[in-house]
Formats: sequence, C-alpha cells, structure tokens
Amino acid sequence: MANGILPFTMRLATGLCTAVLATAGLTTAFPGMDKTMSELQKRQGDLSKSLLGDLETLPDKDLTATGKAVRDILTGKAEGLDLSSQVKRVPPKTSSECAKDKCCIWKYVADEMRDAMVGTAGRCNNFARAAVRLGFHDAGTWARGNVPSGGGADGSIILAGECESRRSNDGLHEICDLVRTWHAKYKEYGVGVADLVQLSAVVGTVACPLGPRVRFFVGRRDSSEPAPEGLLPSPKADADKLIGLFANKTISAAGLVALLGSHTVSQQRFYDKGRALDPQDSTPGVWDNLYFKETLSSKAPPRLVKFASDVNLANDARTRPMFEAYGNSLKGQITWSQAYAREYVRLSLLGVYNINDMTECTRVLPNFMGSFDSVDKAKLDEFAAGELDSARVALMNGDVIPDL
Ligand code: HEM
Ligand SMILES: *[C@@H]1O[C@H](CO)[C@@H](O)[C@H](O)[C@H]1NC(C)=O
Repeated sequence: MANGILPFTMRLATGLCTAVLATAGLTTAFPGMDKTMSELQKRQGDLSKSLLGDLETLPDKDLTATGKAVRDILTGKAEGLDLSSQVKRVPPKTSSECAKDKCCIWKYVADEMRDAMVGTAGRCNNFARAAVRLGFHDAGTWARGNVPSGGGADGSIILAGECESRRSNDGLHEICDLVRTWHAKYKEYGVGVADLVQLSAVVGTVACPLGPRVRFFVGRRDSSEPAPEGLLPSPKADADKLIGLFANKTISAAGLVALLGSHTVSQQRFYDKGRALDPQDSTPGVWDNLYFKETLSSKAPPRLVKFASDVNLANDARTRPMFEAYGNSLKGQITWSQAYAREYVRLSLLGVYNINDMTECTRVLPNFMGSFDSVDKAKLDEFAAGELDSARVALMNGDVIPDL
C-alpha cells in the first residue's frame, strides 16, 4: 500500500517531551505492528462510509483515477493520508511547463502557506489553527437533504463574506484576510478560493508537529452564494444534537471525534473572552493526542478551557470510547491520525459534485513532521499549571516562550 501503512514509533519520554514518529514502508520493521494494525482495522469499522456528491450516482466504469481514489478513501479501502509523496522538480511559476501541470502552482501556494504557519519553537501558529477551522467552517455548512441545498466546500465563507457577517466565524477574520491575499496573488494562475481554503486547512494540519499529511484534491467550484445557516455546531450543544448534526453531513460519531481532535492545537479567543488564547490541551501548536486524555480527565491542568460540547462528547456512551482509543499513547496517535485524515478528506468534499473531475495534488504538501522536541518544556508546564500568562502570545505565534 503506497500511502497507507502508518508505522510510527513514538517515544514519549518523561521530562523532555519528545515524540518520535518514524515512518517506513514495512510493517515487519516494527515488532508488534501487526497487533496495532488489527486494532486499527477494528476502529476503522466505526468511521464514516458513504459516498458523496457525483460519486453517489456515477457507475464504477465511469470513474476516473481521482474518482476511484476518493471512492476508496470514503469507503475505507484506502488511507486518507500520505506521508511520503514528493514533488520531484518545480518548474518556474510563469513557465508553460508549470501551467500544464495542474499541481505545479499549488506547490508555490503550499510553500508560502507553510512559511506563514510555523513559529520559532517549531510549533504551528494562529494562522495554522485558524486555517484548519476555516476549512471546517466553509465545508461544514452542507447537510444531506437540506432545502434549499447549497453550502459545502465552495469558498463562500470568503466569497459571500460569511467570515465577517456570521458570529460563528469569530476568530477567523485574520485567516480570511490572508486567504484573500493569497487569492489576489495566485488567481492569475487559476487558483480558486474553495481549493485555497481547503489547502490552507491541510497545510495548517501538517505544519503542526505530528499533524497528519491529509490527501489534497483540487478542482472545487467556487460560489459566492451564502451557505445555509445553522449547520455549524454550537459549543453549548449536547452530544445528541452534535452526533445528529454530523450524521447529516455523512460523518459518523467516531468520525466526529477524530475531527474534533484538531482542538489539540487550539487556543480559543471567543468561547471565553476573559481567557483569550488559553488552549484546549496543554500542548497548543502540537498535533498530539493529549487533547483526548485531558478532555476526559477531571484532573486536567487548570490552564485549559474545555468547550461544553467537547466535554459532552467525551462523556457520551457513543463517543467516549473514541476519546479513550484516540487518547491512548502510541496506538491512539496512529489510529487517530488515520481516522482524522480519512474524515478530513470527506469533510473537504462536502457539497462538491465534480469529484470525478478533480486532481490529486497531495505531493505539493510540506513534509510530515514525525518528531518534536519542546525546547521550552519547563515554561510550558508552568503555563499549563496556570502561571506565566505572558506565554499566551508566544504560543499563539508558535514561538519559543521567552525568558522573563
Ligand atoms: C462539535 C463540533 C465542534 C464545536 C462545537 C467546535 C467549537 C469550537 C470553538 C467554540 C472554538 C473556539 C473558537 C474561539 O473562541 O476562538 C473552536 C476552535 C477550533 N476548532 Fe472547533 N468545533 C467543533 C468541531 C471542529 C472540527 C470538526 C474542526 C476541524 C476539523 C475544528 C477545528 C477547530 C480548530 C483548529 C480550532 C482552533 C482555532 C484557533 O485556535 O484559532 N473544530 N471550535
Ligand atoms: C438532520 O436532517 C434531518 C432531515 O433533514 C432533520 O430533520 C434533522 O433535524 C437534522 N438533524 C440535525 C441535528 O440537524
């Protein structure tokens, strides 16, 4: 399997927070991996399965290579992540060679995005986390059977000004402005807003240490029609409501928990304004699975702001097992990375009806960062314990927490 097997080894050393996630092609290189793989297979059974958009009606014989690839991801036959593909050579952006390759220009865009998304500590910053949320808030406005239809990954969050006009998008203004800047710079090369938004989300993910490299497809149609309202989740909602809301987007309870794990990098500003920039786990800017453990725990560090919705899901019988599984050290990190990637590919295609005509450009994405050393671990612990308020801004920027 070219993209799939995810043999990370992960060492969580006490004291120095070190996580090493090595990648290689062979299960045999990793004793115990077979057991892990069967565990993964079991968990994958809980993930979302249904087809989307044009793939729901197209007969198999009419599927393009992209159509087949996406079908296999959606139905659980292929991985949604790809840790290894690479661009071999990048022709100049104005060359005809670049114009002929649908992915070429996206390499330039992805590199520029990544540069904006990482700070001096190697952690991902506010643009990265906001981009991940932006991808969700554009795509997540689609629901099956919704009348009038519309919404989905169509760029309307930018093109219809939803970013500014809807309270649910508080916290996204800066990233929306940045996406507009990128669009102004690259539109002459045929770069669309819906694809830009989704690229920013997957670059934002892999820009965070340990963040999975989610497969990326281009060719979405842009729309400046406002998306239907009321289809994004409320952080006050109970588990029933949230599970139902995501079910209508074809996302299972397990899939929802996998996606929710992106709160691992979060530093909220509007949920509790008095505690702006306080994180949702004790390692903001690192894509580790501590979020699940700490959301479950009644003894989490006092610095954390937990959303009522997250706690409700962590306590519900349908979703609690996923919090436990994904939060469980190495196995959990692997299982979650795979689940997240498959579910994010799905999310990034909600409301898209030309999937069969899209193109996979995963190879333009930045490299997967499978290990991370926190050089300011002692200060980070102090911050988590409720001290050192001044660290908020450094963390926001992904920067090393300075000496006082
Ligand atoms: C039950 C569903 C969800 C609820 C209720 C929810 C709610 C929230 C809230 C209230 C915030 C804080 C915003 C702020 O105050 O600044 C937030 C942040 C965030 N959400 Fe969610 N969310 C949900 C699902 C998701 C999903 C599916 C994703 C992406 C796959 C996602 C990605 C993020 C990210 C990355 C942030 C951090 C943004 C930042 O720090 O700037 N969330 N979410
Ligand atoms: C899911 O969709 C159905 C049918 O459109 C609707 O009746 C129901 O209220 C939706 N559930 C949620 C939680 O939005």
